[in-house]
Amino acid sequence: MNATPLKDKRISRRSFLGWLVKGSLAGSALLGLGALLRFISFESQPSSPSQVDLGPASDYPLGSRTVVTSAPVLVIHNEQGFSALSLVCPHLGCTVGLTEEGFTCPCHGSRFLPDGSLRNGPAARSLTGLRIEVDSNQHLIVYLG
Ligand code: FES
Repeated sequence: MNATPLKDKRISRRSFLGWLVKGSLAGSALLGLGALLRFISFESQPSSPSQVDLGPASDYPLGSRTVVTSAPVLVIHNEQGFSALSLVCPHLGCTVGLTEEGFTCPCHGSRFLPDGSLRNGPAARSLTGLRIEVDSNQHLIVYLG
């Protein structure tokens, strides 16, 4: 019978502490880098009025999906009437863009389906549906807040 000597695979206390310190430093550096990137890419939204006159309702024909960049909102006119979606990303407030598949946020890549529901983050929720109505002058009024 041929016995092979077992190698001692234990690590020393000094090596273990060294790796622990290096791992902690690397983890801290990654967290700091993430926070820095988030800070750099943050875009604040200017304060806006709580309701916006979007002009004559006749400018939004049946079957239309109209982006109003000044609000920023998407006005949808279908058989059920008018509805509106906020184009402000629920992650950190960038304005999402309209795509063939729905909406995409240019800041961190969140994507939303055409009805505004969340497809993938980092946003944690869907685009916000907004109250919209036709006033006595037949203008569309959207309520942002
Ligand atoms: Fe971060 Fe839109 S602001 S994904």
